[in-house]
Amino acid sequence: MENQTILVIGATGNVGRHIVTRLSDLGVSVRALSRDPARDPARRPAGVTAVTGDLSHPETLREAAAGADAAFLLWPFRTAEGADAAVAALASQVPRIVYLSAISVRDEAPPEQNGMWGQVEQAIERSGADWTFLRAGGFATNALGWADEIRSQGVVRWAYGQAARSLIHERDIADVAVRALTDAKHSGAKYVLTGPEAVTQADQARLIGEAAGLPVRWEETPAEEVLGQLAASTGDEAFAAHALHYWASLVARPEPVTPTVQEVTGHPARTFAEWARDHADDFRPR
Ligand SMILES: NC(=O)c1ccc[n+]([C@@H]2O[C@H](COP(=O)([O-])OP(=O)(O)OC[C@H]3O[C@@H](n4cnc5c(N)ncnc54)[C@H](OP(=O)(O)O)[C@@H]3O)[C@@H](O)[C@H]2O)c1
Repeated sequence: MENQTILVIGATGNVGRHIVTRLSDLGVSVRALSRDPARDPARRPAGVTAVTGDLSHPETLREAAAGADAAFLLWPFRTAEGADAAVAALASQVPRIVYLSAISVRDEAPPEQNGMWGQVEQAIERSGADWTFLRAGGFATNALGWADEIRSQGVVRWAYGQAARSLIHERDIADVAVRALTDAKHSGAKYVLTGPEAVTQADQARLIGEAAGLPVRWEETPAEEVLGQLAASTGDEAFAAHALHYWASLVARPEPVTPTVQEVTGHPARTFAEWARDHADDFRPR
C-alpha cells in the first residue's frame, strides 16, 4: 500500500475526510481534492497533498488524477449533467474508480428510475475504468439537520417518529471505500451498505439526547407541515413529497439491513448510538 497514490474527491466531506485519514494512516500517498484547499487546512493530516479541483471542470480532474492508482468519487449535484465528461477525465488517468452511489439504484429497474446515481454509475461503466460502487443507504449524518432544534429547544419536530431507518455511520462507508480503493479484488462489486439495525426516528432523537446528556423529546408533527418545511429548505417540492411518502412507508416496513460492512471490513457496522456518541458535541449548546 505504501507505494500507492490515491485521489480522494469530496475529501472535505463527511465520508471523504475519514477516507483521507485512514489512507494516510496506512501509508498511502493521498491527494485530497477540494475546490478550495486553503479553506480548512487544519483538518488535513500531515503528509496529505492538497489538490485543487472542481467536478464541473474536467480538466482540473485530469491534472489532479495524473499518475494516481485509484480515485474515490462522489457526485454532489442533483442531476448527472456533466458526469460523462468528469468521469472520462478521471478514467483517462486512473485505472480504478470507487463511487459513492445510493441504495436506491437497482439493477433490475429501468435506468430512468435509478436517477442521478444510476446515471453516474452508467457513465463509470462506459468509461472503461475498473470500478466499485458503494450503494449507501441513508447517512446517520442526515440527523445533523435536527441539531439546531435540539440545541435551542431540546425537541425534534418532525413526521413519522415510528419510521425505522438503518442509517449508516460515515466511518463505515469510509472503511469500505478504503478497502475498495486499495485492493483490486473489489473491482466490479456493487456493495449495498447500511447500518446494523433499523432504529425509529423517535429513538434516534432519544439516543442523541442520551449521548449529548440533554433532554430531547420527539414531537410528532403533521406530514403536511413537514412537507412544506422540506420543500422550502431544499427548493425541491417533488423531492420533499417523495421523502415524506418514503418515511410513511417505513412505519410498517422498516428499512432493510445488509451484512456488507462486516463482510468487507471484518468489523460490525457501527450503531446509531455510537454515531450519536461520536457527534454528541454537534448537538450540545455552543
Ligand atoms: N446523505 C445521504 O443519506 C446519502 C445517501 C446515499 C448517497 N449519498 C451521496 O453522498 C454524497 C455526499 O457525501 P458526504 O456527505 O461525504 O459529502 P458532504 O459532507 O455533503 O460534502 C460534499 C463534498 O463534495 C465536495 N464538492 C462539492 N461540490 C464540488 C465540486 N463542484 N467539485 C468537487 N468537489 C465538490 C465538497 O468539497 P469542497 O467544498 O471542499 O470543494 C465536499 O467535500 C452525495 O454525492 C450524495 O449523493 C448521500
